[in-house]
Amino acid sequence: MQKRVFLIIVVVSLCSAIAAANEPKYILYTQRIRDSPQTIEPEAESLVRSSFYALDPIIVSIPRWLGNSSTVEHSTVVAAKLDQETCNVITVDLEGITNESDIIESVGNLIVLFNRQFDVSLEQLSLVGFAEGAHLAGGVGEKVKTDLGQQLTKITALDPTAENGELLQHKLSAQDAEFVEVIHTNSGGAGTWEELGHVDYYPNGGDSQPGCDITTGIANACSHERALHLLNEMWSPSNDFVSARCGSVLTLSAENCRWSSLRMGEADVSTSASGIYFLETHSSTPYSRGAYYIGFL
Ligand SMILES: *[C@@H]1O[C@H](CO)[C@@H](O)[C@H](O)[C@H]1NC(C)=O
Ligand SMILES: *[C@@H]1O[C@H](CO)[C@@H](O)[C@H](O)[C@H]1NC(C)=O
Repeated sequence: MQKRVFLIIVVVSLCSAIAAANEPKYILYTQRIRDSPQTIEPEAESLVRSSFYALDPIIVSIPRWLGNSSTVEHSTVVAAKLDQETCNVITVDLEGITNESDIIESVGNLIVLFNRQFDVSLEQLSLVGFAEGAHLAGGVGEKVKTDLGQQLTKITALDPTAENGELLQHKLSAQDAEFVEVIHTNSGGAGTWEELGHVDYYPNGGDSQPGCDITTGIANACSHERALHLLNEMWSPSNDFVSARCGSVLTLSAENCRWSSLRMGEADVSTSASGIYFLETHSSTPYSRGAYYIGFL
């Protein structure tokens, strides 16, 4: 009798260990616990015990394929957000998680939990995805729409990868949230040229970035990750990434595009901005150049 109970316990705990192995891990950062982030389980009890504050905005950061908790996309998103506002930043650790639908299911369920159990409105929440993480964010948007009958408000996609049939089924699109903005910094290399959002920005023409050594090949980690390094300025009051609207990705240049009052990252569902935008940046911080083009007129 005792042996049987013991066996059942072993089997039950093995099962939960297996289930947990397929789930991403989640780490919570707020301004108060910035230097001592908390691991949270995607369930109500764990959130209640944590520093999660349901009235503050929530930013969920989804990394590149297999990106773990110390990958650079998470540290840049955490710093860029917590420098500016009181909010919850939740980073998703995908180490060892190779099943796209498991990732989308888990992150989607977490958002549904926020909404149903913590009364978080979708306007309070946004997703940021880097590389493959941009497409995963899109998949989460689709799942949330199915589960809640309502769209995510905003997805920020940072240098999304080109379609990669082997890794991912879901390709990010403007249907995945009310507003999808995309920043392309290594198109044709690690990233894609393809317009995927309501607004697609192509800093410096979108393929290689100033200060990055292009002799190391077009798939250039420096240009790819530049999309991350622009975030801090983009989300700050000193954002001066003045952009120009272009007709197509074939004509991305200061001469061929029409300068607008739109700064990269400022468009949302309430503005009428849509389409392709070009801008130039410096090679290091401060990256933004402001209305430098006026000097040429
Ligand atoms: C995260 O991944 C990187 C690169 O694969 C690795 O060097 C590092 O040790 C990992 N860190 C953790 C905390 O697992
Ligand atoms: C991913 O996991 C789901 C169940 O969670 C399963 O149906 C599917 O076959 C898995 N896909 C792959 C590629 O292993």
